[in-house]
Amino acid sequence: MRKQIAAANWKMNLTLGQAEKLLDNLLAIDWTPKTHQEVVIAVPAPYLFPALAKLKASGREHIYIASQNAYSEVSGAYTGETSAEMLQSLGVTHVILGHSERREHFHETDEVLAKKVDTSLAYHLIPIFCCGEPLSIREAGTQNAFVARQIEKSLFHLDVTSLQKVVIAYEPIWAIGTGKTASSAQAQEMHAFLRSVLAGKYGATVAEKMSILYGGSVKAANANELFACADVDGGLVGGASLVAGEFEAIIRALQ
Ligand code: 13P
Repeated sequence: MRKQIAAANWKMNLTLGQAEKLLDNLLAIDWTPKTHQEVVIAVPAPYLFPALAKLKASGREHIYIASQNAYSEVSGAYTGETSAEMLQSLGVTHVILGHSERREHFHETDEVLAKKVDTSLAYHLIPIFCCGEPLSIREAGTQNAFVARQIEKSLFHLDVTSLQKVVIAYEPIWAIGTGKTASSAQAQEMHAFLRSVLAGKYGATVAEKMSILYGGSVKAANANELFACADVDGGLVGGASLVAGEFEAIIRALQ
């Protein structure tokens, strides 16, 4: 069975005190995960260490702390950057790569992202690799080719073993932070297409095993319908993950 994941992306929000309170609330949720279900919480970099300590103290299983980024180079004179090796040494298990906000504001290209994927995998981090089209591409009806190209350019150099460590997140840019969610039909259509692209390169058996999350205005009110889609294996959640009750409902919507 494919992994079903509820992933929180806190982005650049919350003070330490607020972050600690939210994490305490999330760790206190009375939730018994099925074997294929996971929760991943991507916190701002300064909160990784305290978050990992809280997680450990809680004894909770199936909950993981993620970084929102990692640098492409292994180490060296890159002031302000965080390496995959540092994250691994902290006990971080997952890293979001290729988020549209990083592509837009920090000019991350498909090529740089391919390198970040390699470096993260080399230090045993699970990349949550984001793809997704802007509104203009959706309106032109060329979203499939656009998104296929993103994953081909940044993932298709991987061998099959490495590829299977990656989680893909489809996040249409027009649905991020806009309150305008892709319909479950739009999400399902793109996820099935992405799976067919993966199958074309790596075979249907591999493609069937890959988790593909949907992101873009996921909230308690729409998570059930989205997660019920055959090819939607959970969500990557921004705004609604900052409210414990909302994110709890999203976790409970995992199938
Ligand atoms: P929102 O859930 O706020 O739309 O953000 C989605 C996102 O970018 C998650 O990575």
